[in-house]
Amino acid sequence: MLDLAFSILAADFTHLAEEIATATRGGGTVCHVDVMDGHFVPNITFGPPVVAAVRRITELPLDVHLMIEDPDRYIGDFAKAGANWLLVHQEVCRHLHRTLTSIREHGMEPAVVINPATPVETLIEVLPLVHHVLVMTVNPGFGGQSFIPRCLEKVRHLRSLREEMGLHFRIEVDGGIGQDTVADAVKAGADLLVAGSAIFAGAGQQEATERNAREFLKAAQAATQMQA
Ligand code: DX5
Ligand code: ZN
Repeated sequence: MLDLAFSILAADFTHLAEEIATATRGGGTVCHVDVMDGHFVPNITFGPPVVAAVRRITELPLDVHLMIEDPDRYIGDFAKAGANWLLVHQEVCRHLHRTLTSIREHGMEPAVVINPATPVETLIEVLPLVHHVLVMTVNPGFGGQSFIPRCLEKVRHLRSLREEMGLHFRIEVDGGIGQDTVADAVKAGADLLVAGSAIFAGAGQQEATERNAREFLKAAQAATQMQA
């Protein structure tokens, strides 16, 4: 099963409810929320109040991607705000096992993220704990960056580890995923597909946004027959 996790970072914030409704009409099945703190990544975005607002306008799972230092401090706040899946970066978690366990204890599904320079091997011990692994296909911080093809090797690696270890975690990709790159990501084994700028067409462009989502999913679906 493939999911389009549309990233609201690329949406028109003055009409967020409408943008989410449009991406959902186009076939989006997960709402991806990028939380940035200006420390772990150079950019600053939004926090728990925006997650809580989004919670009130959609029933889709909220995939909350924390690009922040010291995520442990905020697990309770994001749980209260209504996050379903909470993602933390391996690079900032000194006690990754504890952090992932705490996310589950707060009633959310834990997920772990790795930057392009971080190897899959750093995750082996926690793979049995996670709902999904997010392989960044750009360096985090901004939407609209170019996809780094080499990262797909890590998707393939995770797929074979999942089989070897008899696990069921899902594999997500994020960054530069669009019409031209989604097929390769799906062929490598990704099934949770984050996309921002490839989906949201801009203020007042509802039809184009809906069409982008449909075409994106069509390209992704066509690639499922070609896993390699
Ligand atoms: C980047 C974020 C992404 C971003 C993707 O740091 O984690 O979720 O919104 O944007 P696009 O799809 O435009 O690369
Ligand atoms: Zn993200």
